[in-house]
Amino acid sequence: IKRVTTHVLSEMKLKGEKISMLTSYDYSMAKLVDEAGIDVILVGDSASNVMLGNETTLPITLDQMIYHGASVVKAANRALVVVDLPFGTYQGNSKKALSSAIRIMKETAADAVKLEGGKEIIESVDRILSAGIPIMGHLGLMPQSIHKYGTYTVRAKQEAEAEKLIEDAKLLEEAGCFAIVLEKIPAALGQKVAESVKIPIIGIGAGGGVDGQVLVIHDMLGITQEFSPRFLRRYHNLAAEIKGAVGSYIEDVKSRNFPSEREQY
Ligand code: KIV
Ligand code: NA
Repeated sequence: IKRVTTHVLSEMKLKGEKISMLTSYDYSMAKLVDEAGIDVILVGDSASNVMLGNETTLPITLDQMIYHGASVVKAANRALVVVDLPFGTYQGNSKKALSSAIRIMKETAADAVKLEGGKEIIESVDRILSAGIPIMGHLGLMPQSIHKYGTYTVRAKQEAEAEKLIEDAKLLEEAGCFAIVLEKIPAALGQKVAESVKIPIIGIGAGGGVDGQVLVIHDMLGITQEFSPRFLRRYHNLAAEIKGAVGSYIEDVKSRNFPSEREQY
């Protein structure tokens, strides 16, 4: 199988072929996602919510991201693997940012890192790129900055914020980022950004005019049940299936139906 590289992704944008991306946080899930043919696997800091049960992405540590990243990389034979730099490991200190990114690359063998922000973090972006580490940007709704905004509502609906977002996207492209995630912004703005830069724009709640889509796998499989933003399409109700299977097992144990004669030594 031909591995997906950052070069392959830029070719896909040129050819108008949409890029598919999903999160994964562990070996077994990543193996299924990779074998199904996904282009990019994101080891998102959404692991903080989905894996660790935190309310925000802020508490997850670099060590925890490395644990998840290393597990996913072992399963990915084709997909490009991107690992999120967690909150507090790159903002406001480019030397710290570089050492955080180096730890991820060395200890997980991932292909790239992802950072939230534009102009504010450009020094960190430059420094990490200068070490030859590929970066995926992340603009629009940036969950690591939730305490600055207070809500997870649609971003950049106002002209000034939309203009800053376009400027930030151009800045990240000029710096040398290979792609950018755009989260929860108007579809028209998503398309405008995708047309303003040559690097692929991967959207989550950014409409159909961008170059690819990303979702959190637990959300799209219907494992998580409470989270229901408009942009989320559920492809399965895995929560019901898992609960059903577990319920049957409990019943069989209690009723002595399991194990049967054939299931013992
Ligand atoms: O952490 C994450 O899962 C993400 C995606 C939602 C883009 O950053
Ligand atoms: Na993230």
